[in-house]
Amino acid sequence: MTRLLFASIACAVLVFQAIADSAAGASSDSFVSACAEPDRSLAVRAIPGRHKFDPGLVALGRKLFHDPRLSRDGTIACASCHVLAQGGDDGRPTSIGVGGASGSVNAPSVLNRAFDFRYFWNGRAATLEDQVSGPLEHPKEMASNWEHVESLLARDSDYVARFESLGIPRSPESVRTAIATFERSLITPDAPFDRYLCGDEKALPHEARAGWERFRSLGCVSCHQGVNLGGNMYERFGVFVDPSANHSSEPGMLGRFDVTGRPEDRFVFKVPSLRNVELTAPYFHDGSAATLEEAVHTMGLYQLGRDLAEDDVALLVSFLRSLTGRLPE
Ligand code: HEC
Ligand code: HEC
Repeated sequence: MTRLLFASIACAVLVFQAIADSAAGASSDSFVSACAEPDRSLAVRAIPGRHKFDPGLVALGRKLFHDPRLSRDGTIACASCHVLAQGGDDGRPTSIGVGGASGSVNAPSVLNRAFDFRYFWNGRAATLEDQVSGPLEHPKEMASNWEHVESLLARDSDYVARFESLGIPRSPESVRTAIATFERSLITPDAPFDRYLCGDEKALPHEARAGWERFRSLGCVSCHQGVNLGGNMYERFGVFVDPSANHSSEPGMLGRFDVTGRPEDRFVFKVPSLRNVELTAPYFHDGSAATLEEAVHTMGLYQLGRDLAEDDVALLVSFLRSLTGRLPE
């Protein structure tokens, strides 16, 4: 049964890898490869070292991302829930939007999203551009609309000048492009694991290396792989355990099912990236795991049908900590 599961996961991996390579929204020549000679035999990849996006467009996207005036009442920016210096999320189980409204799912990080194949836990946005209207218009997030944003841009002389010097109209489409380009520029290179992947054996402490071996031999890597160790396929949360005993089955909490309506898609989510995961507690789509140890132990039970020993959990956590890269300034 387990072997069958892994064989089918391995097939899915190949298919989804192909999708991820083509659908990331940014072509690979937008990035500078981290390793001179990457090891293509591995299911994971080092994160690119640098990006080549237009600095003016990135700066405009940065300003928009941090501007609370985009929200209906001027209090909430994208950056309110995606704090870049803290790993790109908000550290809460679920987010708080305008007027103190609380949402129902955990905010994922916005770092390294260029390498994901779809956006949101349930994958309902195909590109980072498509994703932007979601939080902007969501009544419990920014509760705004494009009319409000366009009128703000027309009133602010700094925005007027920036759009003019870039030669782009002050349109919703330009705003989406600028924010998405800024997000693609948010990469976190130079994690110890990346240096190890590029051939520096000493970059990975002994325990983290033992954890990497467990990560592969236990089969975590069959779902968490690619540049982001995640972000390139959908998988069920609860392969060996029925999650509905401990996790909400309300509409909006059922992953792909909320998009497709197919019974087999209940509790199927985008496999989350594990990059910088030590900075982004709490974990899972509902923020139900407070610590990395708890999340890893749950993964063993739910995804692999194994009650992982404390020592194994500790090694896996050391490995996960080696995925913390250099945060963007
Ligand atoms: C009130 C908090 C809040 C605000 C404000 C907010 N977000 Fe989010 N963001 C979230 C939550 C929660 C999710 C997950 C929602 C889901 O999956 O259904 C999310 C998801 C995302 C994702 C998808 C990440 C992934 O891994 O799939 C991106 C990208 C993102 N937000 C960017 C933005 C941008 C750009 C803005 C501003 C226009 C913004 N967010 C404003 C809370 C927020
Ligand atoms: C069958 C696919 C699969 C396997 C195998 C798997 N995972 Fe996951 N992992 C997922 C999915 C799907 C989620 C999202 C679950 C959710 O939020 O409901 C996840 C979430 C996580 C998270 C939380 C990330 C976050 O930001 O919330 C961690 C940490 C994690 N996995 C580590 C591991 C480790 C370590 C292993 C091996 C012991 C493992 N996973 C095995 C699919 C898998």
